[in-house]
Amino acid sequence: MRCVFHNPTIPKTKAMSTETEYHSKDFEWDQLREEIENDPSLRYHFQLSSQPETIQFSPSLSSHDSQAWDNFHTRHSTGKFFKERRYLLKEFPELASCDENSKVLEVGCGNGSTALPILRGKERIIVCACDCSTEALERAKELIYATNIVSVSHRFRTFHCDFSVSGFPKWLACNLCQEIFSKKGHNCFSDFSDKMRNDLNDFFSSEGNYCCMGGVDFITLIFTLSAVPLHRMPTAIAECFSVLKPGGLLLFRDYGLYDMTMLRFEPEKRVGFREYMRSDGTRSYFFCLDTVRDLFVGAGFTELELEYCCVKTVNRRNGKSMRRVWVHGKFQKPT
Ligand SMILES: C[S@@+](CC[C@H](N)C(=O)[O-])C[C@H]1O[C@@H](n2cnc3c(N)ncnc32)[C@H](O)[C@@H]1O
Repeated sequence: MRCVFHNPTIPKTKAMSTETEYHSKDFEWDQLREEIENDPSLRYHFQLSSQPETIQFSPSLSSHDSQAWDNFHTRHSTGKFFKERRYLLKEFPELASCDENSKVLEVGCGNGSTALPILRGKERIIVCACDCSTEALERAKELIYATNIVSVSHRFRTFHCDFSVSGFPKWLACNLCQEIFSKKGHNCFSDFSDKMRNDLNDFFSSEGNYCCMGGVDFITLIFTLSAVPLHRMPTAIAECFSVLKPGGLLLFRDYGLYDMTMLRFEPEKRVGFREYMRSDGTRSYFFCLDTVRDLFVGAGFTELELEYCCVKTVNRRNGKSMRRVWVHGKFQKPT
């Protein structure tokens, strides 16, 4: 079992590190579900439809979504908002135990909270990070290039893209690579010598000699899919599948159904079933395990791990206990 459970004989103390808290399973999800579904004041969350649902299908929504995220990242441009996901390599140890020069695609990188621990955790790993917000990409670059991580400027690249609309650029995996990743004689980045494979700059300055990187070994989708409208999720996941090498892993973490932040949304913030829009225009979907399974297995992935992480945290200001629910998933592209 991946989660580190609290030992009931050891009381949870303030001294307990944030890292440990992130790995805890403090309550049973089924118990929470029963409680929530029997609370009449929360009934509006379960109604099948709410009136603004048509908003999802507007063709201009993609730029609207990106604009909302741009504004979000502009508002939170100070380093204070940045929180490195220190628990990431504990949740996904494959990112540390993988081969030298493995390639990671961090989708919806925000200000670099996920990219940073990956680069820190493995000296020769390569991280390509994308976001639909140019503001986010600027923040991520600033933060990551300011660290003293070994040869980080050679191992980290950002690019702008809304993966749910335009898909990923072909330099990640060209059409041929997408068909046959291991085809010999194909002049793509996967044929590079070890030295060059360790340096993204060499690839980008190779003046078209190499049509693509030959796909990636890992995709991290950490609190990003929930920001994509539900009807665009299948396309977004299919895109991830297409650039991942056979045997590659997609590492997933996102908001879970009945997370405290879902229950706090007022009725008028509902834009669909389990979909909400914040006042700033950014969206959030709350996943149950079946939805995640259907989406990823439906795209061709094999499920390796899928579970709720249920963590109790305490609001420092008012001392109130908050029940957080996240979904942890690990999916593999069949070889
Ligand atoms: C909650 S942040 C998560 C950031 C990061 N993955 C992390 O672990 O902290 C979600 C990010 O996804 C980006 N995003 C939302 N929709 C996207 C899309 N369709 N394509 C690419 N990025 C998207 C947002 O701009 C935002 O930076």
